[in-house]
Amino acid sequence: MRILVVGSGGREHALAWKISRSPLVRALYAAPGNPGIGRVAELVPLDLRDVDAVARWARENRIDLVVVGPEAPLVAGLADRVAAAGIPAFGPSAAAAEIEGSKAFAKDVMRAAGIPTAEYEAFTALAPAVAYARARGGRVAVKADGLAAGKGVVVCGDPAEAEEALRAMLVGGIHGAAGKKVVVEERLEGPEASCIAFTDGERVRMLAAAQDHKRIFDGDRGPNTGGMGAFSPTPNVGPELLAEVERTIVLPAVRELARRGRPFRGALYAGLMLTAKGPRVIEFNARLGDPETQPILMRMRNDVVPALLAAAQGDLSGVTLDFDPRAAVGIVLAAEGYPGKVASGDAIEGADGPLPDDAQVFHAGTARDAAGRVVTSGGRVLTVCALGDGLADAARRAYEAVARVRFRGMQFRKDIGGRA
Ligand code: AMP
Ligand code: GLY
Repeated sequence: MRILVVGSGGREHALAWKISRSPLVRALYAAPGNPGIGRVAELVPLDLRDVDAVARWARENRIDLVVVGPEAPLVAGLADRVAAAGIPAFGPSAAAAEIEGSKAFAKDVMRAAGIPTAEYEAFTALAPAVAYARARGGRVAVKADGLAAGKGVVVCGDPAEAEEALRAMLVGGIHGAAGKKVVVEERLEGPEASCIAFTDGERVRMLAAAQDHKRIFDGDRGPNTGGMGAFSPTPNVGPELLAEVERTIVLPAVRELARRGRPFRGALYAGLMLTAKGPRVIEFNARLGDPETQPILMRMRNDVVPALLAAAQGDLSGVTLDFDPRAAVGIVLAAEGYPGKVASGDAIEGADGPLPDDAQVFHAGTARDAAGRVVTSGGRVLTVCALGDGLADAARRAYEAVARVRFRGMQFRKDIGGRA
């Protein structure tokens, strides 16, 4: 098969790496990819904002399967264009991707399907939104309706904080059109977990559960980021809870989307808060998580290509996923200044190995400079992953690999996978 991976982050490097190990693959391309992905795939310099151009390239180059990593091209209709070109796409249509693209739509799907989630209302005007937040003592999460690059949620502790967040979005327009509508929801407490499934629009196959570390500093302090590290399995989600999540959250969402004429083919990500009353959805994503995908795919033992193709073609019935019982930990190495404005162009040393056994370095914000050296070019630069016998061992191996990598201003958390 000839496969195209769309995207350029650590998630896409892990996908390309896993796909490249399949005996079914004759040619692997990535658009636009990054230098790490370039070691397992041929890079194609396409602009992902032009979804028609990506679909056209796939048709002209006789691609058999397009695997879409990030949400923005999905919400912009890339999977629809690829399907219209007669090529299976792993990733939902724009209509189905609205479950990530609009929080109000996602909440409406959850309400209709009886999926456990925080109580909420959606607003476009300030006064009723503030009144709703006040009535809840200000203990709410204020969420921009649209895509805001992971920065659209403010968790509030009192009415003044809630009013400030609402004013910034609805009046100040800090998220532009994405924040012209907001969801105000009950603030939940508990550990978080990421439960992701492959789905063909009807059937689902759960991936191993994972946990993400969203805050920039050790001990979950500081601002939220795209994710500073992840691990799998998570002791918070055993096999019974994962089965409950499949039955009460993922399958009902897939069925409700199908009922609305928006069948979801791809990876459906349920971001959960594990409350005292059971799991509650805090968000759905229309794609795999980053960095969760990196440790999850390190643990996947089956060939991923038949699973991706089956989901894309609408029939997962013959697919079984198989995960290594060992644990995997992934540590994000970020550039100085992340999650704010970052420097770029700093030379990276040690990322190409030699690496310890069962360790992998996935590239995210990397580029080649004029001299051909690999340099930093984004906030999250690398994800360093390792397998081990249990989380502590996996974390120890991953940090051993981290110690071999160096770039100016490199920052990372020291407590990924529970390591104090
Ligand atoms: P999201 O962008 O929806 O993943 O939200 C970002 C973060 O905000 C989540 O990872 C949670 O830590 C937090 N969050 C979102 N919704 C709630 C909620 N209802 N209660 C408490 N925290 C929340
Ligand atoms: N790591 C969280 C996400 O991918 O949304």
